[in-house]
Formats: sequence, structure tokens, C-alpha cells
Amino acid sequence: MTAPLVRESMVTADRVTRIFGKGEGAVTALNAISFTAQKGTITALRGRSGSGKTTLLNIIGALDRPSDGKLWLQGEELTAMTEKQRNALRRQRIGLVFQSFGLMPLMSAYENVEFGLRIAGVPSSRTRRMAEEALEQVGMKERMKHRPGELSGGEQQRVAIARAIAHQPVLLLADEPTAELDSKTGLTVIRLFRELVEQLGTTIIMTTHDLSVLSMMDQTIALEDGHIGKINVE
Ligand SMILES: Nc1ncnc2c1ncn2[C@@H]1O[C@H](COP(=O)(O)OP(=O)(O)O)[C@@H](O)[C@H]1O
Ligand SMILES: [Mg+2]
Repeated sequence: MTAPLVRESMVTADRVTRIFGKGEGAVTALNAISFTAQKGTITALRGRSGSGKTTLLNIIGALDRPSDGKLWLQGEELTAMTEKQRNALRRQRIGLVFQSFGLMPLMSAYENVEFGLRIAGVPSSRTRRMAEEALEQVGMKERMKHRPGELSGGEQQRVAIARAIAHQPVLLLADEPTAELDSKTGLTVIRLFRELVEQLGTTIIMTTHDLSVLSMMDQTIALEDGHIGKINVE
């Protein structure tokens, strides 16, 4: 790993390994994974269930630490940081999107996004404008007074994406964001991701097992039992 390359990339992983448990029951979820995600690109992590996608995404998102190997975000070594530093970095620079949307059912779309900003420590004088901007960006401003139960799955995922981007993270991580959507709606979510990359310069890393979205990725990394299978840079 040469320093200039690491600095210019958004994420660089060098032989990242994650072993769960100890002794005979130990599971090697990731085995020496190395890759780079360039700024302003979308990378897909694909592979069967159990191949290590979520484990890798959690490590990139500073939610978990590797057992071995190193990881850099914008040239800073995440694996050398204290827990406090990692938490601060995650709050400021990373947005997270999950398969099941994770919205609060009793809050409107707007309140969900605004609440996320308050949790992230954004001063209340700024949360309204930032929440509305994010909802506008995902095309949900008109429906922002609706509760999740009054929205379709695709609309709920858009609100979840608005919540994830409202604090203007440099890196958006999405774990199977299209898995609970029909394929047409799933494609609109990926198109939205492309817009975020082109318009805001966001870098996105997402997991998927949906082959139909891979042509819209800049890079696909195939995981097979914690190893990298083949890399296609399109
Ligand atoms: N917290 C954990 N404790 C023990 N094993 C785990 C844990 N998380 C994941 N694993 C194991 O690691 C492997 C990879 O899991 P995961 O990253 O969730 O795969 P994927 O997201 O590709 O389905 C699986 O064998 C899984 O059972
Ligand atoms: Mg998973």
C-alpha cells in the first residue's frame, strides 16, 4: 500500500480478516480482503448469503473491527483509531442504509430524517433545512408528512436514504438496499444512488445479490466464503 494511493481513495482495505469466536468453533467470515473504492464511485459487494458481505460493510462503517488487516477512510487509518474517534468519524462521514429501512413507524418521513440529524448532534437551528433538502434530493419532499405505513416500500427506502444522507456524509453504505423491493423499484433506488454520486460526489458501497443492478456499478467485488472471487471493474 503506497501512501498517495491510500490518500486519494475513499476506502482502502489491506488484508482485512474477521474471525468470529475462538478455537474449534471459530468462523473466518473475511479472509485477507484487499480492495480500493475510489471517491465518487459505486462499489457492489456481491455473493451468496453467508459470504461475508455484511461483515465487511460493518467494518468499513466502523461498526466492527477486523481481527487482522488495515482499513483507511480518506487516507486515515480507521483500524488505528480509538473507539471514540471511530464513533465520531461514523457520525460525521458515514451514512447507513439497511434492507428493512429501519424507520420509526410513529414518526412522519420528515420527523424520521430530522430525528436522525438530532441524534447525530446537528444543532437544531440547522436540522429543518438539512432534512428538507435531503427529502428533496430523494424526491420525497411532497410526501414528507406521511408516516412510513402510508408509503410504499420504495418510498420508505427513499426516506431511509434521505435520513442517511441528510448530514452530508462522504460515504454511504447500504446493506442489501433493494432486497425487499420488487426489481423495478429496486432499480429506481440504484438510479437514485447514481444521482447522489453524480450530483453530490458521494461514494457508495452496497451489498447485493441482485445481478441485474451490477451493470450500474463502477466496481463489483465478489465474495466467496470470505475470499474475493473475481473483480470486474466496468
Ligand atoms: N456476530 C457473529 N458471530 C458469529 N458468526 C458470525 C457473526 N456475524 C456473521 N457471522 C458469520 O460470518 C459469516 C459471514 O456472515 P455475513 O457477513 O452476515 O454474510 P452475508 O452478509 O454475505 O450474508 C457467516 O458464516 C456468518 O454466520
Ligand atoms: Mg448480509
